[in-house]
Amino acid sequence: MTSDPLTEQPPPESAGDLAAVILAAGMGTRMKSRLPKVLHPLVGLPLVGHVLRALAPLAPARTVLVVGHGGEQVQAALGPAYTYVTQQPQQGTGHAVLQAHSALAAHHGPLLVLYGDTPLLQPATLTALVARHRAQPGTRVTLLTSHAADPSGYGRVLRDAAGRVTDIVEERVATPAQRALQEINSGLYCFDSAWLWPRLAALPRHPGAGEYYLTDMIAVASAEAAGSVATLALDDMDEVAGINNRVQLAEADRVLRDRIRRYWMLAGVTLLDPATTYIDADVTLGQDTTLYPGCILEGATTVGDDCRLGPNARLIHATVGDSCTVGMSLLEHCTLEAGVDVGSFNHLRPGAYLSSGVHLGNFAEVKNSHLGPQVAMGHFSYLGDADVGAGTNIGAGTITVNLGADGQKHRTTIGAGAFIGSDSLLIAPVTVGPGAMTGAGAVVNHDVAPDTLVVGMPARPLRRRTPAPS
Ligand code: UD1
Ligand code: CA
Repeated sequence: MTSDPLTEQPPPESAGDLAAVILAAGMGTRMKSRLPKVLHPLVGLPLVGHVLRALAPLAPARTVLVVGHGGEQVQAALGPAYTYVTQQPQQGTGHAVLQAHSALAAHHGPLLVLYGDTPLLQPATLTALVARHRAQPGTRVTLLTSHAADPSGYGRVLRDAAGRVTDIVEERVATPAQRALQEINSGLYCFDSAWLWPRLAALPRHPGAGEYYLTDMIAVASAEAAGSVATLALDDMDEVAGINNRVQLAEADRVLRDRIRRYWMLAGVTLLDPATTYIDADVTLGQDTTLYPGCILEGATTVGDDCRLGPNARLIHATVGDSCTVGMSLLEHCTLEAGVDVGSFNHLRPGAYLSSGVHLGNFAEVKNSHLGPQVAMGHFSYLGDADVGAGTNIGAGTITVNLGADGQKHRTTIGAGAFIGSDSLLIAPVTVGPGAMTGAGAVVNHDVAPDTLVVGMPARPLRRRTPAPS
């Protein structure tokens, strides 16, 4: 079992003389979106993030991202681990690669060029491409091709009578005979850097297109020396599918989700209905956990062993310990220790922390609150900005009134072993001492001493509570 549900790890690429350029500057016009194409999310990662993830095991000495359309957004999303160069305006894939030249001037080894819209790529394929390139000295470019049952939308690979690659022709300018060819250009290349840069700088615009096509470099290499273009043919067309529109985005999403589900089932997680179970790439799940139909696990969610989730539980960046049960509830940026039981129609919002053995029944909302061990909150209550001690019971309809007249949020502190009666309003800031009790309908706007019963509106001391609960 590898450590990444999306990728089969290849043997490590040993030589440190590899660099990579990823093209992510295009408009993505066919997405019809305000969001740059390469940032459209798939299983919790941006499109281009998948390409970077496939590349990571090869450990290139340098990775340059060419950004342009929405460049600042792309940079903010991917972070500082990469070198960014800007392509402005976007004048085609050849022009895009050229923008990376100055950032790679000191680099002399093989150069991988990847398009940022191929999210199904596997590291092993990149390793094989680089290995193929290194295998034949004198190779100027090694091209990853694939056989497509439906090649529409892709550039077609042209070969001469001897089977040597001579050119790539884009679909829109292909003749009917060329369109019938099923060998396609995947958009992944390994170039000899020293050969590439001067020729790319001299590349003319593609006739009739007004753009510089990287694909034209194939004809340049072939014209210089027949056989200087090597190819690696990939059986699985899926792996190099380029995402140009939202139909293709949805298809890629399905493939990635299948990979993730398979990975977790093989790792010991039961998915009662894999088709309706959505697990993001960075989720981790423990052994013998069962996901009932309709579970959606997003972001960096982690779930321990022996849990039961769903049906229809949605967890977003949630941390769930061992042996927890979660019904059809929404959990966001929150933590459940071991043995927590969350029923249905509950909403755990950011900063909710439920210690071991906490029980939430239904229609509870908890935000930015710490619930001690064994706290029970059975029915339709709201705890916001609260600290609740161990073993306390939160009665039906309890509400922390955390927003003050001053417009600020205030905390409510409830000690251990307290009993908050049904329909209590706790007007923050307020402290209810350990072992204290509020009567049904109490409006608590003053601190309550330990082991004291308060009732009424506003709640006033009535008597000392005896015997005090242990
Ligand atoms: C391209 C190839 C085609 C191949 C297909 C594989 C060319 C001319 N065509 O077509 O042969 O079969 O990919 O998926 O290369 N980009 C830039 N700057 C630009 C233009 C594009 O950075 O000026 C980036 C895009 O963001 C994208 C990638 O390059 O990530 C590919 O561009 P796209 O427009 O999707 O090319 P295709 O038409 O799919
Ligand atoms: Ca594309």
